[in-house]
Amino acid sequence: MYAVLGGSGLSQLPGFEITMRKVQRTPYGEPSGALTIGILAGHEIVFLARHGYGHTIAPHQINYRANIWALSQLNIDGILSVASVGGIRPDLKPGQLVVPDQILDYTHGRSSTFFEGDNQAVQHIDFTWPYDQALRTSLCLAADSVGEQVVQGGCYACTQGPRLETAAEVRRLARDGADIVGMTGMPEASLARELEIPYAHLALVVNQAAGVGESAQEISHAQISKTVHEGMGRVMGIIKSMVQLHDE
Ligand code: HPA
Repeated sequence: MYAVLGGSGLSQLPGFEITMRKVQRTPYGEPSGALTIGILAGHEIVFLARHGYGHTIAPHQINYRANIWALSQLNIDGILSVASVGGIRPDLKPGQLVVPDQILDYTHGRSSTFFEGDNQAVQHIDFTWPYDQALRTSLCLAADSVGEQVVQGGCYACTQGPRLETAAEVRRLARDGADIVGMTGMPEASLARELEIPYAHLALVVNQAAGVGESAQEISHAQISKTVHEGMGRVMGIIKSMVQLHDE
């Protein structure tokens, strides 16, 4: 069974028949909401909206440890993380889908490891390739099977938020090698790795990043809402195809 972690624009899954809501207590506090277990396209999945079901939890306030730990308590085969991002590379325009293969982490002050505490041995996980390669391949195959083009590979920069970046910050991210920018990909990915849960990201570009192309002067929220609305339907198609291919 896959877990789907939904981001902005995906706090509910259209067509998902919920069979159980599980309030999972964790040693790290409250997850963003109850885990919803149910059937999507004939197959069982578990879904969690990282910003809460009413979209009230800001990126820096999400309890990433509780979310990942809660999901780990179910017998999941992997986490499919969906997120809206800004496109830094000029060719990554609104509506494009990206399955990144690298991460740059600019966040601070987030509880970002399970390996701390009095009786815990320090562990240094390998994070050379932060996303699970097999899960990334499955995502790309699933997209292909429903005729969706995805950009395979790219570097995801995670900023602290909740504000968007300045144009100068985006220029720096570009110099650092980032292709897309979001606010929630870390420490989600490294926490999943700590618990050895395969994790991959499906990112929908909803705006050009600050200072790039049509966002030279400002980022239009009207444009973002429109792109999120249109794009999440396509994301759902890929997720459905992914769960079907996984179970076959
Ligand atoms: N920056 C950071 N996070 C985002 C953006 C952005 O431009 N768009 C959507 N999430």
